[in-house]
Parts: sequence; structure tokens; C-alpha cells
Amino acid sequence: MTINVVGLGYIGLPTALSLAAGGWSVVGTDQNKTLLGKLDSGEVTFEEKGLPELFLRAKESGNLSFSTCCVEADVYIVAVPTPYLKDSKRIDPKFVVAAVEDVLAVSPKGAIVAVESTIAPGTIDTCVRPLIAQKGLVCGRDVRIAHVPERIIPGNMLYELTHNSRTVGVDDPGVGETLKTVYRAFCKGDMVVTSIKTAEMTKVVENTYRDVNIAFANELARLCYRGDMDVNEIIRVANMHPRVNILSPGPGVGGHCISVDPWFLVGDYPDVVNLILQARRINDGMPAFVLERVSELMQKRGIRVSEVGFYGLTYKENVDDVRESPTLQLYDCMRRHLADGARFYDPMVKTTLVERQYFEFDAFLDGLKLVVVMVAHDEIRQSTQKLKNLLVFDTRNCVSGENVVKL
Ligand SMILES: NC(=O)c1ccc[n+]([C@@H]2O[C@H](COP(=O)([O-])OP(=O)(O)OC[C@H]3O[C@@H](n4cnc5c(N)ncnc54)[C@H](O)[C@@H]3O)[C@@H](O)[C@H]2O)c1
Repeated sequence: MTINVVGLGYIGLPTALSLAAGGWSVVGTDQNKTLLGKLDSGEVTFEEKGLPELFLRAKESGNLSFSTCCVEADVYIVAVPTPYLKDSKRIDPKFVVAAVEDVLAVSPKGAIVAVESTIAPGTIDTCVRPLIAQKGLVCGRDVRIAHVPERIIPGNMLYELTHNSRTVGVDDPGVGETLKTVYRAFCKGDMVVTSIKTAEMTKVVENTYRDVNIAFANELARLCYRGDMDVNEIIRVANMHPRVNILSPGPGVGGHCISVDPWFLVGDYPDVVNLILQARRINDGMPAFVLERVSELMQKRGIRVSEVGFYGLTYKENVDDVRESPTLQLYDCMRRHLADGARFYDPMVKTTLVERQYFEFDAFLDGLKLVVVMVAHDEIRQSTQKLKNLLVFDTRNCVSGENVVKL
């Protein structure tokens, strides 16, 4: 069986490599020529534990090649971005539509098109099936459609790719069985075959569940600050209850999933959605809350903005993904209020994203009086000594000391 993976980003690349290393013949397609150039020269395109080694195994298998165009294959796996439209909050399906159109231009009769991208419930019906019909093709005969959403987390992608269970949404159980065989090349987890719309909704619900629960922790943090209570200690004690498991508060929610997917439900069901919308607002309000706290600390301690440094630009620890990151949201918020002059630093980020961004930890710290920890990278956890003469505002509850103020 030949598999064409369309979109070689955070999801498509490890999937393509795992399928090739697992024995299938794989062509990886991406429209980004720079990205393909890097892959062709043997470089991985983002940092992830074990990815270079997996790349090597996939190449040595002889099963892997890359192309800027879709090719003839038995199975297509589409892993392209799915943003939301800022005004309506509904999914913007343009990348999925374009990718499926490219696939349909070359797919042989009976090919399976499995969309891995996270999509709003109903997207296959409203955006993908009409493309098949437009081509004069019959869905279920000429093209068999599926939705196989991905659950992996950056930082632990390869472990989760292998061990997570997987949802396989199909019209026809036979297609589900073929896809199970395909994914069995690397997936040791359970594979649940269900309907396409259930698979679409399940994935969005999983991320929405996380968003709502993080929002609860964040609201507790704000409430406890107002009431002069220690939120982290309260959560620690409350979680000793056998049926309570409160998540950790933080400076906001970022990444390509949790901060995006709940909007699909808000956009499609505005008159029903209430809790989910409030959760989004609470989490999106956290960077501004962090800024308020920073401003209070500066006033109390007589610290100037040039003496403040924000540690961490990524959306989570030990990855280089900065999409929707709370620090970038905070940076935008500062700029809107004409506040300028603070420093930024992230050991995982090698390109310039903001003004006054440092690329060396000691140079970043030199001359600072207040460090705001936005991301719990291993480096900051191990740097208590370097921070001991500074005021630290720790929004991630990851450093300790008398000089540390918590969220
Ligand atoms: N990143 C995650 O942690 C994660 C986890 C679970 C699910 N997802 C979902 O997976 C999907 C992909 O996310 P990602 O993080 O891999 O995105 P990404 O931006 O890292 O990668 C997408 C790739 O698709 C390519 N692309 C876009 N249109 C194309 C086309 N028509 N033909 C060929 N290539 C095309 C882009 O050039 C890019 O390289 C999204 O729906 C996302 O919500 C992501």
C-alpha cells in the first residue's frame, strides 16, 4: 500500500516518518518548498525528542520520499492547518479544502482520504463531500472518506503517537479496518472505529474539556489573589479529595489546539454555547492579568520596565512551538497599551519574534530586577542560583525561593 501524507508540519511529519519506518511506502507532500528543501537535505524542521533518530530510520528504510505535489496513492492522510475565522469564530476550512482538491486531482479509484486535521463537527459533510461530488466522483466508491484526528502533545509526540488510542471516523466499517492496518505500523493503542461526525466532535470536545478545566484553575488563581489566598496550596490540598483533580493555573493557553478548537463550537452554536465561551474568555484574559500583576510589583518595588524580563516565548515547556503563545499575547497587549522596554528570552526560540529579545540567558538576566516566568522550561527550573538576587514572578509554579511571587 502507498500512503501520501499531505502537510508535513508538527503532525504530518512524525506521522509520515512513523509510517515509513513501520514498513509502508510513504510520500510526504508539502507546499512549503523551504521545508521540503530542509527535509530533502536530511534536516528535521522542528525540535522534538527522538525525531532526528526516527527520520534516520525512515530514510534508511528506503520507504520515504518527498514531493511538492500530491501523488497517486492508496491512502491519503491530510494534516494541514485548521485555524478559525477571527470574526465569526467558525472554522476556516481553506487549507483542508485546498489539500483535498489536490488529492482528488490525482487519487485513483477507491482511494481512502483520511483527514487528520482537527475540524469542526460537520466539516466533512459541508466542505469535503461537496468537493467529491463537484468532481463527478461518488463518495464511498471512487473516494472513501475518513476522519482520523490526532491527539499527540508536542514534547512527547513520538511516545504518544505510538501509545495513544486513536479514533477512526468512517462511513463504512471496511474502511475503518483498512485504516487500522495502516496505523498499526506504529500505533500500539486501541483504535476505535466510529462515525465521521462523532470523530470530528470527539476531538473538539477533548480540547474543549481541557480548556474549560484550565479556565477553572485560572479563575481560582484570580479569585485567590483577590482574597489573599494561596491558589497552589489550595489546589494541592483540594486534589487530595479522591474525586477532585484541579489543573494548574498559568499565564494563558496557547498552541494550535486548546486555544483554537473550542472556538469552532462557539462559532457554530453561538446561542447554545455558554460555559465554553466563558472558558475561552477567562483563558484569553490571563496574559492581561499577568501584566496587571507585573505592573503592581513594579510599582510596589520601584522597578522600571527596562528592568523587567519575560522568560519564555513558547506556549509550553521544552518545545519550540510559539503558536498562540501567552507571552506573544501578552506582548501584543503591552504594545496596544504603548508599554515598551521589557526584555524577552526563550532558550528554545532561535529566531527574532519580539523587540528586545535575547538569545543568551546570562545576557538576558544581566541588569534585570524582575523576571516573569511564563514557561517552565527545564532551564529555568534548574536556575534557582542565577535567580536568587532577583524578584521572580512565577506564573507556572515551577521555581521556589523567598524571592519568588506566585500567580
Ligand atoms: N500541533 C499539534 O500539537 C496538534 C495536535 C493535534 C492535532 N493537531 C491538528 O493537526 C493539524 C495540523 O497541525 P500542525 O500543527 O501539524 O500544522 P503545521 O502548520 O505545523 O503544518 C501544516 C503543514 O501543512 C502544509 N500545508 C498547508 N496546506 C497544504 C496543502 N494544500 N498541500 C500541502 N501542504 C500543505 C503547511 O505548509 C505546513 O507545513 C491541525 O488541524 C491541528 O489542529 C495539531
